[in-house]
Amino acid sequence: MAGIGKTLRFYGNWKAEMTPAKTREFFKKFANEAVVKNFNLLKDSGAKIMIAPPSACLESARLSINEHSLGQFVELGVQAPWHVVGAYTGFTTLEMAKDPAIAAKYAVIGHSERRQPWRTIEAAIRNSLKGAPSPLNPDDVVGSVIASILKEIAIDSNKPQPFGIALDRIVNAQVKEALKVGITPILCVGETLSERKEGRTTEVVLSQLSSGLEGLPPELVKLTEIAYEPVWAIGTGETASPEQAEEVHVKIYDRLSEHAQTPKHNIPIVYGGSMKPDNVAALVKKPPIWGGLIGGASLKADVFMLLIQNGIAAVS
Ligand code: 13P
Repeated sequence: MAGIGKTLRFYGNWKAEMTPAKTREFFKKFANEAVVKNFNLLKDSGAKIMIAPPSACLESARLSINEHSLGQFVELGVQAPWHVVGAYTGFTTLEMAKDPAIAAKYAVIGHSERRQPWRTIEAAIRNSLKGAPSPLNPDDVVGSVIASILKEIAIDSNKPQPFGIALDRIVNAQVKEALKVGITPILCVGETLSERKEGRTTEVVLSQLSSGLEGLPPELVKLTEIAYEPVWAIGTGETASPEQAEEVHVKIYDRLSEHAQTPKHNIPIVYGGSMKPDNVAALVKKPPIWGGLIGGASLKADVFMLLIQNGIAAVS
């Protein structure tokens, strides 16, 4: 059965919510929580903890982890690394992540916050072709830029190249490159609210999953990890119910069996989307939920540790 023998994972995705100074402050407090107050709990449980700071905070994070002897408990991850080195202004590469000054072990790849702007652009172009109302929010950066472009140009193609496919290919290349350099990719998949309402959750999630893993031999598939993050639950305070999450995790587990060519595997599948100290227990009690990819609740050391404690207690 999915998740038997699972080692819990608590992965913090800090998005763009930290500074180097706040990073140092976090780890100072987290060292007190982890090394001073919860040493035995963390050691005995073997729970894996990871923080993916914004790129400007990676080196401060590594220095703080070393300074407070947190390396025994906490690994670093990079957010949305670019898979090639070159003239790409503003990007963080896997090569940077591998540098000993960072020594990241994980990479968060295919997050909906990276996919969504492109999907919005595609939807806008499609609707414009059909004369349907635009999904663009003029207050949103992407929305306003695309709305102004659409005003200026006449689109004559009936078949726009789906941005989603292009995006899936990039995500696939990033997963492959991460594995090549020895970084564990955490491949993020998840449906939007409208896709869920249309009954397309399984189709969307499994399509993102399979295209993200396309071309990987089974032995490499087994080195990946997956995060199921329903877009409608991210940063909204609205969590998927344990049953809703479990249902999708089981589908992901089964599809992973095909990619890994084995009916039983131990590829971790974590849940992301408003996971908090008070809902983590019910989620991780479900066998196919290995833990969480946590945004807001990973930003404060004491809240993150409470979430970890509650998660570990739930499965002990
Ligand atoms: P929240 O926990 O803030 O909803 O964010 C989840 C997420 O997107 C983690 O990658």
